[in-house]
Amino acid sequence: MTTIIGFAGSLRRQSFNASLLRAAAALMPAGSTLEIASIAEFPLYNADVENGQGIPASVTRLKDRIAATQGLLIATPEYNNSIPGVAKNAIDWLSRPDADVKRVFGNRPVALMGASPGSFGTTLSQTAWLPVFRTLRMRPYWEGRLMVPRAHTLFNEAGELTDDKARGLLRDFVHGFVRFAATAH
Ligand code: FNR
Repeated sequence: MTTIIGFAGSLRRQSFNASLLRAAAALMPAGSTLEIASIAEFPLYNADVENGQGIPASVTRLKDRIAATQGLLIATPEYNNSIPGVAKNAIDWLSRPDADVKRVFGNRPVALMGASPGSFGTTLSQTAWLPVFRTLRMRPYWEGRLMVPRAHTLFNEAGELTDDKARGLLRDFVHGFVRFAATAH
């Protein structure tokens, strides 16, 4: 069984990126599963909190879950042509303490996808993530990339991905990433 863990970099109830992640979970190939995690309970990173109270329990739980899987899938929105603050805050907490980075992220397969109502569908945000992955010594999936532009036309009110073309692209993307993650170690 290949287990991938994913989180969406948005806290919005009707988030297109959270919806995209749920659609991905339903399209995973046989012998694999996508666990969906949440970053909603993460506080804002503050070194005083880390030094005084330690790593928050919600962060430690997700670190351990990432470490137990074969790959990480991030569904990233794009804010001001870059990574939204809540998503960057999450990865910053998850990278603490430094001594744990290798266990949680080192050599771990990682893939990015993203949805936005705009025409480019998170291209620039996805590019902005790359130095983060390099710093954490992760192993990015280069063979495919998934941008979902004009997201408001592709999901219904219930957050289901109803567009057949987008569903096909998503399916190919997650199948490719699972193949990569299953053999990368
Ligand atoms: C945005 N949005 C946006 N979209 C985009 O394609 N490129 C961008 O640079 C930005 N910038 C931006 C900045 C800020 C502050 C906000 C609030 C929004 C629109 C964004 O893609 C849209 O709100 C998505 O719906 C966010 O993703 P979720 O929450 O639907 O997953």
